[in-house]
Amino acid sequence: MDSRKTVLISGGAGYIGSHTAVELINAGYDVVIIDNLSNSEKEAVDGVRKITGKDVAFEIVDTCDKDALRKVFEKYRFDTVIHFAAYKAVGESMAEPLKYYQNNLVSFMNIVEMMKEFNRPNVLFSSSATVYGEAEHLPVTESTPRQPATSPYGNTKQIAEDILRDCCRAYPDLYGIALRYFNPIGAHPSALIGELPRGVPNNLVPFITQTAAGIRECLSVFGNDYDTPDGTCLRDYIDVVDLAKAHVAAVDRMTEGKMKEKYEIFNIGTGNPVSVLELITTFEDVNGLKLPYKMAPRRPGDVTAVWAETTLANEVLGWKAERRLGETLKAAWEWEKKVRGV
Ligand code: NAD
Ligand code: WQD
Repeated sequence: MDSRKTVLISGGAGYIGSHTAVELINAGYDVVIIDNLSNSEKEAVDGVRKITGKDVAFEIVDTCDKDALRKVFEKYRFDTVIHFAAYKAVGESMAEPLKYYQNNLVSFMNIVEMMKEFNRPNVLFSSSATVYGEAEHLPVTESTPRQPATSPYGNTKQIAEDILRDCCRAYPDLYGIALRYFNPIGAHPSALIGELPRGVPNNLVPFITQTAAGIRECLSVFGNDYDTPDGTCLRDYIDVVDLAKAHVAAVDRMTEGKMKEKYEIFNIGTGNPVSVLELITTFEDVNGLKLPYKMAPRRPGDVTAVWAETTLANEVLGWKAERRLGETLKAAWEWEKKVRGV
């Protein structure tokens, strides 16, 4: 394995990590996946192997366990880590903040510490559009000020970004990129990997696909009295395969020594705002079905609208979202059907 062309993926059995593993392998990288399977199944790694036809190194490791992590660094040579491993449920983070600070921050600090200890240069971090909160101006650019976090989950993203910035500033051999994802949705077109939420989904698209599959009775549209064209919230829904390709572009930039700053931030979205009702209608149209839904009160903590200004990612990373919303929602439904045997 060439260390420059090898990437450690923490949380690589998860939703975004597994899709990213596929795209990295397709682009000629070797990957090493580590995951503690706290929110995923090892079958996702099998899916990556099936799609790519490559044997993928996989270790069950908790990134909070520094000794176990050190063994991974001793065993494999890689220049780059992509750190996905984190808990991500906003509501749960309000009820159990320590669980979130513990897992999301300790795991990230362990990763950065090992990168420093083993002289491995490149850290790519999964951040989130949640850092922008309710922004004054839309679309948001990377220099739009972050708002105080409204959940411990969101706070872990802000703190981890700051940790990475400070470490890149302090340690001469360390480089960092934070990708701020907007709303990742969809699944691999093979339907071999996709999103597998445990319990009742919080996110819109898994709730839609589970409703279409008959697992949920009715979708609630949280608020139709927002100051938006149809009264429902606006978001920037990004196809998970496009999102995965953004990671490849960022890894290329790091490994080819093209970074202009030691720490860089990119918005990863489509740049197009889509309302909840538009998304439902598109899902129905492309999949030829009717979805039971009803209007419901606003969900506490939701922002009215957020979407990305993507010029920086387009021009500097040379990456652009390509898949159309309809294709993405078709893939999401194909994946749900596969999982449920519908
Ligand atoms: P996911 O839960 O599917 O994947 C995360 C993976 O990390 C899981 O496989 C989980 O088992 C693993 N994990 C968690 N804690 C771990 C630990 N201590 N050690 C080892 N493995 C651990 O979530 P995802 O949607 O793929 O998200 C990936 C990353 O992207 C997360 O950091 C998340 O916060 C961030 N993100 C996600 C979204 C989204 O809407 N999905 C949006 C913005 C940012
Ligand atoms: C989208 C829209 C809801 C469910 C969250 C996190 C964010 C990021 C991505 C990680 C909103 C509406 C939803 C439902 C609905 N994750 N909705 N009925 O809230 O934009 O972002 O996931 O970083 O941090 O907060 O995504 O998919 O939950 O909601 O009407 O049953 O769908 O009100 O307008 P959100 P979402």
